[in-house]
Amino acid sequence: MLQYRQITPSEIPFPIFELKNKWMLITAGKDGKVNTMTASWGGFGIMWNKEVAFVVIRPQRYTLEFVEQSDSISLSFFDRSFKKTLNYLGSVSGRDENKIEKSNLTVSYKNGIPYFEEAETVIFAKKLFIQPMKEDGFIEKQVIKNWYPDKDYHHLYIIGISEIITKTV
Ligand SMILES: Cc1cc2nc3c(=O)[nH]c(=O)nc-3n(C[C@H](O)[C@H](O)[C@H](O)COP(=O)(O)O)c2cc1C
Repeated sequence: MLQYRQITPSEIPFPIFELKNKWMLITAGKDGKVNTMTASWGGFGIMWNKEVAFVVIRPQRYTLEFVEQSDSISLSFFDRSFKKTLNYLGSVSGRDENKIEKSNLTVSYKNGIPYFEEAETVIFAKKLFIQPMKEDGFIEKQVIKNWYPDKDYHHLYIIGISEIITKTV
């Protein structure tokens, strides 16, 4: 933990609209086990006067089961050298193999929330809201055509940011 310092949301050391290229690992624990998945969609903002993040998880993701069981989760951001690792963690399911072990990343815990020691920046957040997206909610139907041919609509989570840590250089 020594190599991290605490920062505020406005000090997040990358432009938040870079998320598309930046990628993150959404990580949660349940029954002493941990699972993680790569994500590049989401955002940051203010809801209910709180600083929040938004993440979206498709129903078939194993990680969803872990997120459902956890009060709090982490979002881990890495430097470019981990792109291959994040690609792997975003293309294989923890249901099928022990992908965290194979990734060679190191799980650590902060206040009981799992995250990865190799991450540059980690956001810890408490779940505030969950809403599975519904077909009739889509005003722009082209979005369904483009992104949900299997009708596996994302579950939208709004999570309240409780702590952010970033590596000291
Ligand atoms: C760059 C990238 C971004 C992704 N973004 C998301 C996302 O935002 N939501 C989602 O449900 N899946 C996303 N995925 C897919 C999951 O990471 C992938 O299906 C993963 O294998 C799920 O693992 P799990 O079954 O162990 O949870 C993304 C994958 C990649 C490579």
